[in-house]
Amino acid sequence: MSRFFKGTLVALAAAATLGGCRGQVSDKPPLHPNKNMDQVRRYDAQEPSAFFADGRSSRIPVAGTVAVGELREDTVLAAGVDQAGDFVSSLPDGMKLDAALLDRGQDRYDIFCSPCHDKAGTGNGIVKQRGFVPPPDFSQDRVREFPVGQITNAIAEGVRTMPPYAAQIPANDRWAIAAYVRALQISQGASLAQVPADVAGKQGWK
Ligand code: HEC
Repeated sequence: MSRFFKGTLVALAAAATLGGCRGQVSDKPPLHPNKNMDQVRRYDAQEPSAFFADGRSSRIPVAGTVAVGELREDTVLAAGVDQAGDFVSSLPDGMKLDAALLDRGQDRYDIFCSPCHDKAGTGNGIVKQRGFVPPPDFSQDRVREFPVGQITNAIAEGVRTMPPYAAQIPANDRWAIAAYVRALQISQGASLAQVPADVAGKQGWK
């Protein structure tokens, strides 16, 4: 057998075995040795059904249905504004300003805000360093004077070039972050008199 002929045979055999794997359409279900929930009879989203008179497989939600986590009726909690639309200047009812709230706020702030605002809130985070619009320094007088609700509102709804974070950060956490931003503001330019004596002593601050 010529070498050329042998080579052709090998190529044909390969084409015959592998050819079946490529681009072949089959109506048969895939082999599924271990039956699982893929095989359960069910309706897919939007699939029609003859069971209900309107031909839909799922029922339309009743009027006023609210998706989980989407209730915005409490405008103070959701957006930091009262019924008149003014920013509120204290935490929502039932929320306590304590170390646990600030710890949570710091944790969430470092994750969600520091990439742009940096960990001290001076507005020099990595995203800004890579060319994003510069965020303001939280210790500017203009931002210091914000009612706390305005900080919560900035997180929930965004401000000009800053995107909203309501979809990523639940309402309670938005308040924890706002409280922590306040702590950052106080920390920049605080006087020794504002530091408890035992803490100042431990740090050696005089
Ligand atoms: C993607 C970057 C980015 C992230 C993340 C971000 N910000 Fe901002 N933030 C900005 C920019 C930019 C501005 C300035 C917006 C402007 O004035 O156009 C801003 C402005 C603000 C202001 C001032 C609003 C005003 O009225 O001037 C506050 C308060 C604020 N951010 C809080 C936060 C908090 C709290 C978080 C975390 C939940 C956060 N930001 C996350 C970019 C960001």
